[in-house]
Order: sequence, then structure tokens, then C-alpha cells
Amino acid sequence: MNPILAMQGISKAFAGVKALSDVSFSVAPGEIHAVVGENGAGKSTLMKVLSGVYPHGSYDGAIVFDGEERRFRDITESEALGIIIIHQELALIPLLSIAENIYLSNPPTTFGVINRGAVYRGALALLAKVGLNEAPDTRVIDLGVGKQQLVEIAKALSKDVRLLILDEPTASLNERDSEALLDLLVELRAQGISSILISHKLNEVARVADHITVLRDGRSVDTLDCRAGPVEEDRIIRSMVDRDLESRYPKREPVIGDVIFAVEDWSVFHPQDTGRRVIKGVDFQVRRGEIVGIAGLMGAGRTEFAMSVFGRSYGRQISGRARLEGREVDLSTVRRAVDAGLAYVTEDRKELGLILAEDIRKNMTLANLAAVAPGGVIDDMAELKVAQGYRSRMGIRSASVYQEAGQLSGGNQQKVVLSKWLFTEPKVLILDEPTRGIDIGAKYEIYCIINELADSGRGVIVISSEMPELLGICDRICVMNDGAFVGEFPAQDATQEKIMRAIMRNGEAKA
Ligand SMILES: Nc1ncnc2c1ncn2[C@@H]1O[C@H](COP(=O)(O)OP(=O)(O)OP(=O)(O)O)[C@@H](O)[C@H]1O
Ligand SMILES: [Mg+2]
Repeated sequence: MNPILAMQGISKAFAGVKALSDVSFSVAPGEIHAVVGENGAGKSTLMKVLSGVYPHGSYDGAIVFDGEERRFRDITESEALGIIIIHQELALIPLLSIAENIYLSNPPTTFGVINRGAVYRGALALLAKVGLNEAPDTRVIDLGVGKQQLVEIAKALSKDVRLLILDEPTASLNERDSEALLDLLVELRAQGISSILISHKLNEVARVADHITVLRDGRSVDTLDCRAGPVEEDRIIRSMVDRDLESRYPKREPVIGDVIFAVEDWSVFHPQDTGRRVIKGVDFQVRRGEIVGIAGLMGAGRTEFAMSVFGRSYGRQISGRARLEGREVDLSTVRRAVDAGLAYVTEDRKELGLILAEDIRKNMTLANLAAVAPGGVIDDMAELKVAQGYRSRMGIRSASVYQEAGQLSGGNQQKVVLSKWLFTEPKVLILDEPTRGIDIGAKYEIYCIINELADSGRGVIVISSEMPELLGICDRICVMNDGAFVGEFPAQDATQEKIMRAIMRNGEAKA
């Protein structure tokens, strides 16, 4: 069968940095073709070339779609042919509703007037299809990133799609929602719709892909055929990093001391829906040297809890006490929380974590300028040294530390955000989905740094939707559901099944 898409000898450079070198790959009609590779390997760039974000003339090589060579000048031209891309960085308009976002560019009209009823009904049907249980008139700003991802997909399905490109669609979804999304891709495949799936979750890739193309340093190094039989994750990793990975999680002998941070009877109300209590009088503590995980489904209240603690960045009518090293502390603003020794690394790096127009170096020292500014004046050399240290430690792929954060690949941006907070040397570090969108090798490095922080007597709290990650790095795992803690396991007793059961048991009790 002729491929629906063939990309031939694609090369693309940014100001001297070669992002893609002679990449070729093709997609058959009705197949799921995965593209994998380390952070900065060139995956997103390749898809931006395909969809016309980078127009014809700004790259070398040819794109053949549906038997004809195409020279897209912008994204509308590729969309017109049914090539729909969902970017790694979501592109919804926060203050508009779900339905308005879905139909933004092509609303159903009756005699030239937007048909509001049709918009609502259409949105409802699409939301059901992607499994998102929210009213179409909910504003996007009130949804978490995971749900926003589903809105993006509903939006793509509202168009006449022939090739769906998903750049890390499940990075912010929990396992159940990821499963549902992958099932959706399989369903589309049965209808003859092809998709390109970019993901760092190799188990998912191995499960649904028909072919896997591996990019390394901007080159296509391998294409694996999965139709004959399942491809082992280790096989994919070997192609990605060109070596075997001994283990996914570094070993550690925890030395756990007394309680360093505790909140008591912590309650938080919803910022708009002011009668709704989002966090329901919870107690929580972390000890020196301890890594505590918080497990739960999307919407369980984990991020809301963390943000409300960190300078009341979320919610209203927050009540309860917080103690740091035994003393009650005032965490009422972000500044106070940081000064008290708290750091919160957010799951949404674009909104809360990074200044995209600033370079890597400035972003890294931002939250702890005092440390590189003795006497109030920034010491450029000291700042440079700090930034270069983290850049090499984290394996951040960039031209130099002077590169703008906005130009980095998604995973490399995440590494900059992490560096920034690690540099504040907090007493208590809260990490919210710290390895979202991060490649396998860099994850290991991040786990090592988390371990070092704990081993130096700090307390670390990790919120993650990836249960194997929590099981792999935590000393204790607390399970949250519906704004309350519903279970707790020491790491050695915890299993994925026990955690899920704790969540379900609680959900059923309420239903
Ligand atoms: N606008 C830009 N200006 C300069 N360099 C860029 C730009 N966009 C991407 N790059 C560089 O091109 C390389 C490939 O980036 P790309 O975003 O394609 O990586 P990726 O494989 O998608 O990584 P990730 O898994 O982290 O998302 C990186 O080194 C990145 O810094
Ligand atoms: Mg990318």
C-alpha cells in the first residue's frame, strides 16, 4: 500500500544548531506510527515541519502527502488536507469555554450565523467521544492540564482529520485516561485514520504502535516494525540512547529523621465555586530525609493541595496550620513560602515556571538571586557557573546557557524549571509531575538529584501520575481522592494494585 505520508531527507537548522539532519520516514494509511527519542532529539521540530508551522523554504527535503509533494506555507494549508497537529504546549484560549475552543476556527453556522445550540450539542458529543465528563460551557481556565489535553483532542476530531499528530498527548494524563486516549487512537485506526504518536511512555508506544521511528540527535536511526510481535521496551531504549540502561531507579538507603514539615487540618475552598470544599481538612507530614509520594487520579486535589500550601497559589478561605521544623510558619504568600524554605515545582512549566523570553541562565537563578548577588549586585561569573553546572548535570540540550528558554524542547524546559528550584536549596521540596515529558536517561538523573536532596536532610514530596515512578523512588506513598487522604503505604508494602484499590474503595463508598 502506498504511504499516506512520506517525509524525505528533511533537514532543519536554527541559528546554526542542527535540529534535524536528513530525516526520512513514512506513514501507512490507517496505522499508528510512533516517534520516540530523547529530549531535544528533534521530534517536535519534525512535526512542525510536517504541519507547516515551519513553512516550505525554511527546511530542506520533501513532504509527500496523499501521493503529491506538498509545500505548506502555514498550518491552515496542512489542516485543509486533514493533517491535524496537537502540540506539546497546549494552545487553548483559557477564558473561553470548552465548546468555544473546540469550534473556534470552524463553528457550525445556520445562514452564516453561529448556531449556539449546534456548538453545544456538537461539543457534548465530542467530549463523550474523548471521555471528558465536563459541561461544554466550562471555561478552559478552570480545567487542569490533563483535561485541557482532552479538549484539544476533541477539537481535532471536530475537523475532518486524516492524519492526527499527537505530541506527547498522555504526558499529563493518569493511566486510566491515557488508556482511554490510546483506545481512541486504535478506534480511529479502525476507521482508516492514521496517527503519529510522540511519547516518552514507551510502554504505551509498545502497546499501540504499528511502527516506531527512533530519532537520535536529529537523525532517524531506526524504524521498528511492531506488527509481527511486541517490541520490548529495552529494545526501543537501546536505539534511543545507544546503550543499555541498567536500571530505571537509582538505589538508595534512606535515613529518615524527625518531622520537618507538617500541615494540620488543612482546608481549601474552590476559587470560583466558593461553597465547594476542595481540600477537606487534611493532615500531612514529611520527615527529614524522606521522599513521600502523593498518588491519586486526575482531579483528586493533589495539585490544589500543593499550590494552596505554597503561598496560597490556589483556592480561597484556606484554613489550617503549617509547621516547619516544629515551628508554626506563615505561608500566606509565595515570597513567604520561599523564604520559609519551601519550593514547589509545577506541572505547568509555561504558566508558572519559566520566563520564556529570558535565557536559561537567568531562569535558573531567578528564585535565588541572593546566592549569586553578594552585596546586591549580580556576579555574572557566579551566575554562569551555577547555570553551567545544572546544564551539564541535567543534560540540558541547548547551544549554551545563553539560549532563550522559549527555544528549548519541552523536556529541556522542564529541566530548567527543576534546576531553578533545586538551586533555592529548599528545606522542603514539592515536585508536581517532575518527569512529565522527560526522557528515560534524564529521569534517572532527576531521581538521583531528588535522592541527594533527601539524603542531605530535606523533605521531598512527589506528586506523580506514574505509579511505577512513585513506587520506584518514594519511601512512603499517600493516596489522595476527592480532597482527602484515603490510604497510606510504606514503599516496601505498596503496589500499584493496592493504591488503585484505595482510590476505588473510597470512590465507591461515596457513590
Ligand atoms: N525555535 C527554536 N530556536 C532554536 N532552537 C530550537 C528551536 N526549536 C527547537 N530548537 C532546538 O532543536 C532541537 C530539537 O528540539 P525539539 O523540540 O524538536 O526536540 P524534541 O525531540 O521534541 O524534545 P522533547 O522530548 O524534549 O520535547 C533542540 O536542541 C532545541 O533546542
Ligand atoms: Mg518535543
